[in-house]
Amino acid sequence: MLGILYKSLSIKTRNPLSKMYRTHTCGELRTTDFDKEITLSGWVQTIRKFGSITFVDLRDRYGLTQLLFSESLNEKLDANPLGREFVLQVKGKVNARSNKNANIPTGDIEILVSEFSILNRSALPPFTIQDDTDGGDDIRMKYRFLDLRRNAVKKNIELRYAVNRAARNYLHQHNFIDIETPFLIKSTPEGARDFVVPSRMNPGQFYALPQSPQTFKQLLMVSGYDRYYQIVKCFRDEDLRADRQPEFTQIDCEMAFVEQEDILQMFEGMVKYIFKEVKDLDYNLPVQRMTWEDAMWNYGNDKPDIRFDMKLTNLKFPNTIFQSRKKASEVSPAGFPNAIGIEGGTGFPVFDNAETVLAIAVPGCSDYSRKQTDELIDWVKRPQIGMGGLAFIKYNVDNTLKSSFDKFFTAEKLKSLAEKCHANPGDLILILAGKEERTRKAISDLRLYMADRLGMRNPEEFKLLWVTDFPLFEYDNESNRWVARHHPFTSPKPDHIEVMINNDPSIADADNYLQHPYANIKANAYDMVLNGNEVGGGSIRIYQRDLQEKMFAALGMSREESQHKFGFLLGAFEYGAPPHGGIAYGFDRLCAIIGGSETIRDFIAFPKNNSGRDVMMDAPSTIDDKQFDELQIKLDLK
Ligand code: AMO
Repeated sequence: MLGILYKSLSIKTRNPLSKMYRTHTCGELRTTDFDKEITLSGWVQTIRKFGSITFVDLRDRYGLTQLLFSESLNEKLDANPLGREFVLQVKGKVNARSNKNANIPTGDIEILVSEFSILNRSALPPFTIQDDTDGGDDIRMKYRFLDLRRNAVKKNIELRYAVNRAARNYLHQHNFIDIETPFLIKSTPEGARDFVVPSRMNPGQFYALPQSPQTFKQLLMVSGYDRYYQIVKCFRDEDLRADRQPEFTQIDCEMAFVEQEDILQMFEGMVKYIFKEVKDLDYNLPVQRMTWEDAMWNYGNDKPDIRFDMKLTNLKFPNTIFQSRKKASEVSPAGFPNAIGIEGGTGFPVFDNAETVLAIAVPGCSDYSRKQTDELIDWVKRPQIGMGGLAFIKYNVDNTLKSSFDKFFTAEKLKSLAEKCHANPGDLILILAGKEERTRKAISDLRLYMADRLGMRNPEEFKLLWVTDFPLFEYDNESNRWVARHHPFTSPKPDHIEVMINNDPSIADADNYLQHPYANIKANAYDMVLNGNEVGGGSIRIYQRDLQEKMFAALGMSREESQHKFGFLLGAFEYGAPPHGGIAYGFDRLCAIIGGSETIRDFIAFPKNNSGRDVMMDAPSTIDDKQFDELQIKLDLK
């Protein structure tokens, strides 16, 4: 038998030892299986020779099993040497292992091999297939099929499937049905750029790949499918980051006859269910809620990480986005810290000349050395952060204060400033001054950076947050018009509809766009934030043709243009569209954060790199002349 077996190795197609490639997996056998005759198939992880015997770790998706090749197999092993990643089939008996390995579930047993067959050989892999591989990012992506064999990646892919299954179970239990929507659709760029696909049968015309199934899910509501979901690919031609891919997946959902509250409850229930199924974690509902304005005011951004506090203090009140607070300050100017609490300014030009002054009190860092504060100054000066500098106050544990701007401030003034920042002895107060938007972004980045330095962002701790009451519009400097902050199908808050309808959207003074009534209109929109990442976003939709047309007009679209782009939706709204709303979760992001990472690439089987390339198959690439001919397209690159 063995003779026949080894002969067969020399020919190209190798035969398995028996019809059944395996009786067990490589992660399955235990001491309860002692003496069983078994067959395993898998990949050679390691080969170790000890005198006359050879140990091989055989790996498959389920685990590792140690194989023992005794002296009697040496001659055959010499004739057919094994190598890393060879595909091997073995027959043998389950034996007690003398040198037990408590780190793996099969660590108490080994297989005493009686026969083996090399099912396929492998070239030497370009990196080791191990958790701590020697392969860099680029090479691992080029050989992603090998990278996917590694435990660390496999764990992520399995987690992704677990999240997928849990989401489907929950949605199925709640009467949602999965309905597929087309990938070849009409190009209606709004938000990101579309990926476009030429049509051979309609020369000169193009499809777009959907940025999301937004209009389709709304049409399904008009059709009466009152609970829809789809775990679906979306395509956006935008600049990439760790949490963005050009093609990504959404858990896309829509419901009819709902208000915002119904949606929030349904979907925090879904995330709770996912946490329970995937992490065996009992997340206590309800999820915390915060208005957009509170998020911006207290954290400087609309997706705050609330695993830690470190709220920011608005020391100088700018022009600004905080309309409700501005009104409050007009009623009671004394209660408002609009000039860092100092009448007529501070004498410190960096503060006095700045549009905004924002501070955070970082706990336990008052003893930072000169070198450490210099490091922070360098950090805020990096081009990504873009600040000119950083002021600080050390609120020492002995209650004394020392600042980087002592010569402008008396001890008393400094103390009052520290108190305004809600600082305690032991805190290091970090202060940024500058243009409103940049300063706010910088302080919120600095807050995260300091929290990272202090180990306050534990990836095993999960904090969800609903952010609500977003502005309906955003002002776009480039096109000098209002754009939809979420998308143009989002409804304004009922009290704000009149403001939208009764005001001309045009902006006379671009610098003062915040004075325009549109800047104050709030939307029925909400985001779900997990550990400082936007994992989902949605809204209650407009469902009346009139209002939708007014919305398009507010966005600067002519009647013809809105009819051309969205006539199908406007038409559908004339045939009994129910009130409806929905949400879409960034499935890759949700998986990544549950898996303790913010890099979604690790959770996608075949991701693109930061230039949008698939380096494994080398896409995008040029196409044949014949393909251009068929499409009647002539390339004329600029
Ligand atoms: P939105 O554009 O907010 O909403 O997208 C929903 C969620 O998808 C994720 N996401 C991404 N993930 C990876 N790579 C990207 N390039 C990317 N872009 C977005 C985010 C985001 O919260 N149709 C609406 C939803 C609705 O209104 O129901 C939509 O697509 O986690």
